Amino acid sequence: HLSEVSLASLELGPYSHFMQKEIHEQPKALADTIEQVLEQGFSPALFGAEAASLLGKVEGVQILACGTSYYAASVARYWIEQIARLPCQVEIASEYRYRDAVALPNQLVVTISQSGETLDTMEALKHAQQLGHDLTLSICNVRESAIPRASRLVFYTRAGAEIGVASTKAFTTQLAALFTLAATLAKLRGHLSAEVEANYLDDLRKLPGSVQHALNLEPQVKAWAELFSTRQHALFLGRGVHYPIALEGALKLKEITYIHAEAYPAGELKHGPLALVDEQMPVVVIAPNDSLLEKVHSNMQEVRARGGELFVFADLDSHFGESDGLHVIRTPRHVGVLSPVVHTIPVQLLAYHTALARGTDVDKPRNLAKAVTVE
Ligand code: G6P
Repeated sequence: HLSEVSLASLELGPYSHFMQKEIHEQPKALADTIEQVLEQGFSPALFGAEAASLLGKVEGVQILACGTSYYAASVARYWIEQIARLPCQVEIASEYRYRDAVALPNQLVVTISQSGETLDTMEALKHAQQLGHDLTLSICNVRESAIPRASRLVFYTRAGAEIGVASTKAFTTQLAALFTLAATLAKLRGHLSAEVEANYLDDLRKLPGSVQHALNLEPQVKAWAELFSTRQHALFLGRGVHYPIALEGALKLKEITYIHAEAYPAGELKHGPLALVDEQMPVVVIAPNDSLLEKVHSNMQEVRARGGELFVFADLDSHFGESDGLHVIRTPRHVGVLSPVVHTIPVQLLAYHTALARGTDVDKPRNLAKAVTVE
C-alpha cells in the first residue's frame, strides 16, 4: 500500500491531484495529438490505410459516445456541418443502441471513447453494424482497446494515460481529432481551399500556446471558485458551438463538487431556467466574440434583471466590461474556429478549484468510475 502511495506522488510531480496534472498537460497532449496533422495536412491517411477510399464515399455522419466524449461529439457536429457541409447527427450511445434507427447509405459512424472500453459505446457500434453500417471510425485514447479494434478506421488521440475520473485532456484532444476529421472530409469533398487549409493548420499549430494562455488564468478562476463552493446550484449558458462547452462545464462541476449544475442553450432561458435565477444562483456564461455574441449579451441582461450573478468567460474581442453582478474573465487571444477547445480550460479549472474548496475527492468522485464497462 505504501508503495502505491509513493508511486502516485511520484507520478503527480508538483501537482496535488491527477486532475490538476492532466489539466496542465493539455498543451503537450494537444501538441502530440496534432503533430502528424501538422506534418501531413488534412490527409485521409491520418485515419488508417483504408481511409482514402472509405472517407471519400461519406454522405453523412452519425457520432455515438457517452459522457464527456458525447460533448466532444456535440461540438464536432457544428464543425462537420459548417466545414465539411455534411449532415451530422450525434447521439448518446445508450440511447442509440436501443433505437431502431434507419441506416442511410454511406453514413460514417464515428464512436468517441477515451478508454475504448465503454460498454454502451461498444454496443452502439455493434448495433450500427447490425443495421448495415460498414463505414466505422473510432476516435480513442487507448491503443488496441475494444472499440478501435472493432472499427475500420481509427484516430488515436495522444493525451497519454488519463487517471482522474473526470475527463479533461482526453476531451480537448478528442476535439482536435474531430476538427481534423471535419477538415479532412471537407478537403475530400472539395470544400477546403488551399488558403483555408493553411489557415486551419495555423490555428491548430497555435492551439497549444492558446491553451497555455488560458491555463495562466488559473488564479482568477480560483478566486471565483471560493464563491461557487458555497452554493447549491449553478447554471451554465452557451450558444452554438459553445453550448456543449457549457454542458461540459456543468458536468465537471457536478461530478467532482456535487453541486447541482445544469447547462442550457442561452436562447432557452425564457423557456424555464429563468424561473430558477436569483441571487443564490451563479450563472456561468461562455461568451467569446462569435456571431452569436449579441444574442448571448441580451440573455445575460435577462439574468441580471432577475438579480442573478454572472460569471462570464469571454475573449479579447468580446466587448463588455465588469459591472455590479457581472464578473468577466477574458481568455487572452481570440482563436477563431478552435475557440471551444480554449474555452474548455477555464470551466475545468473552475470545477477543480471549487472541489478543492469543498474538500471533495477530486480524482475519485463518489459513485463514479473511470470506465463504465457494465450497463
Ligand atoms: C465515464 C467517465 C467519463 C467519461 C465517460 C465516457 O463516465 O467518468 O469521464 O467521459 O465514462 O468514457 P469513454 O472512455 O468512453 O470516453
